[in-house]
Amino acid sequence: MTGTAPPILEVSDAVKAFGAMRAVDGASFAVAPGSITGLIGPNGAGKTTLFGAIAGENPLTSGRVTFDGHDITRLDAYDIYRLKLARTFQIPRPFPAMTVLENVMVAALDQAGEKFWNTWLRPGRVQRQERQVRERAHEVIAFCNLTGVEDNLAGAISGGQKKLLELARVLMSEPRLILLDEPAAGVNPALLDTLVEKIVEINARGTTFLIIEHNMDMVMSLCQAIVVLAQGRVIAAGTPDAVAADKAVLDAYLGEVAA
Ligand SMILES: Nc1ncnc2c1ncn2[C@@H]1O[C@H](COP(=O)(O)OP(=O)(O)OP(=O)(O)O)[C@@H](O)[C@H]1O
Ligand SMILES: [Mg+2]
Repeated sequence: MTGTAPPILEVSDAVKAFGAMRAVDGASFAVAPGSITGLIGPNGAGKTTLFGAIAGENPLTSGRVTFDGHDITRLDAYDIYRLKLARTFQIPRPFPAMTVLENVMVAALDQAGEKFWNTWLRPGRVQRQERQVRERAHEVIAFCNLTGVEDNLAGAISGGQKKLLELARVLMSEPRLILLDEPAAGVNPALLDTLVEKIVEINARGTTFLIIEHNMDMVMSLCQAIVVLAQGRVIAAGTPDAVAADKAVLDAYLGEVAA
């Protein structure tokens, strides 16, 4: 971690209300550039809601989100994705009737062929760009150990492979910050090792991660900093050791067990 560098992501006084219920209730925290930061907390704490707000799918009721010096609080999801902030979903959302390769290819940014007139007016450019996207997709798929299932329908691969596919899809935009929502959930131990290895490798190349995860072994070994959310508020933030020893954190988790 770079210590004194300004945060790559800053969430300030974030509130997200659904009617009278505040799923996020005044949360503030920062993510250091180059870090792998954990976002943990009991079920229903507001973690996924916060991801949706950061990524522009479900904007905050009030508060602010700054990414890489840009105020992204009110930006649309695609504009945020273009700024190179990408997220994965707690329940993977591939297009089930498309192949793994096609799923990865459609995640590419700025495809000329998407503008239908280009297909007619600039066919050479569309073909060239499609070739580049295909090549990059092959690379990303190989990196994520999915080459063996590249031509399989995404709906038919295993749960763990779907998690790797989520990662492959976000890598197509070469993001500077990746939000992972429970990457380890439902993943078998062998694939989990692969996933952790890939996260470490991507991080070593300069991408920052913010990871929601209930697997504490993974969080404690992977993250340099942890933010703990409970009932929509940040109740602790710091190094894994400091957070693990924090009484408010223990109480929040024990409260969940007792409930
Ligand atoms: N669209 C919505 N409308 C109404 N309430 C919602 C909506 N989305 C989430 N909530 C509620 O907001 C609260 C926070 O949910 P959220 O999914 O963010 O929690 P979480 O911390 O991700 O939990 P988990 O660890 O179980 O995934 C929950 O009480 C949930 O029921
Ligand atoms: Mg969640």
